[in-house]
Amino acid sequence: MKVTIIGAGGLVGSCTGFALQAGGVVREMALVDANAAAAEGQALDLLHGGPLYADQIITAGGYEHVPESDVICITAGLRRKPDESRLDLINRNVDLFLSILEQTHAAGLKQDAIVFVVSNPVDVLTYLAADRLNLPVTQVLGLGTQLDTIRFRSLIAQRLGTPPTQTLAIILGEHGDSMVPIWSSATVGGLPLVKYPGWSPQLEQELFTRTKGSGAEVIKKKGGAGFAVGVAIQEVIESIALDRRRVLPVSSVQQGAYGIRDVALSVPTLVGRAGVVATQEIELWPKEMQALRKSGQVLRQTVDTVLQRIGSKV
Ligand code: 2OP
Repeated sequence: MKVTIIGAGGLVGSCTGFALQAGGVVREMALVDANAAAAEGQALDLLHGGPLYADQIITAGGYEHVPESDVICITAGLRRKPDESRLDLINRNVDLFLSILEQTHAAGLKQDAIVFVVSNPVDVLTYLAADRLNLPVTQVLGLGTQLDTIRFRSLIAQRLGTPPTQTLAIILGEHGDSMVPIWSSATVGGLPLVKYPGWSPQLEQELFTRTKGSGAEVIKKKGGAGFAVGVAIQEVIESIALDRRRVLPVSSVQQGAYGIRDVALSVPTLVGRAGVVATQEIELWPKEMQALRKSGQVLRQTVDTVLQRIGSKV
């Protein structure tokens, strides 16, 4: 399995490389960045650690790596300012992202290549990638609310003193302001979270609010997320590499799940070597379903605005 990370010179891309090295699953990583020296430096730094971690081929370069890549992970993009929403970021990042799509398309993609978008606003850019790259929509994924979901789990576990690995709670919808907490299926050690000693509606609201603000909180403190987003990406890429078909809250262009179409957002998705193997319409509470559909409407409006500015391929 070969993974090319576009934007690898930056924090998110380099943490992705380190997480994939620590995971030891992918055989080859190519690090690409507009700042070639930064990509070379990250690749060299990773290479040096290889003897203690994994037998991998780690190189830096350009789009020449794309044609034989199984996964192209796009992390390049400008980061949000602390008070900036992800959707505000769209105009600054769309032009950069479109140029990356053009170079990726021109380089040529394997027929079964998976394009995995991390750059923000990830749902809108995932839609654009599916619109531009002439790949089946099931082969274009976005990190979506996978990062929000592990942040959510970590904060709940920290507050309740429960094992983070046994604290299961999922966020769906937009990786952004309209994201939706799914309390109806949240569990600790297989037991309902809402019945957990000390749980309350106030605690629910506090933890979700902090989860939703976590991206901005980390940006304020250290300039941007790296470690958590790297491991969030690694879990998705390893589910692809090993065809694990894990159920993950990743973004893809919806084709009817929960009544949502023609917009990319996160629903429970079986992720395997083929990309989106299936979506799982796990039953939601009515208010959760309503919020998820609202999230789709918010994103569709933004996609329409962007397409009016750049034109749609179709
Ligand atoms: C975040 O939430 C990078 O959008 C990502 O930190």
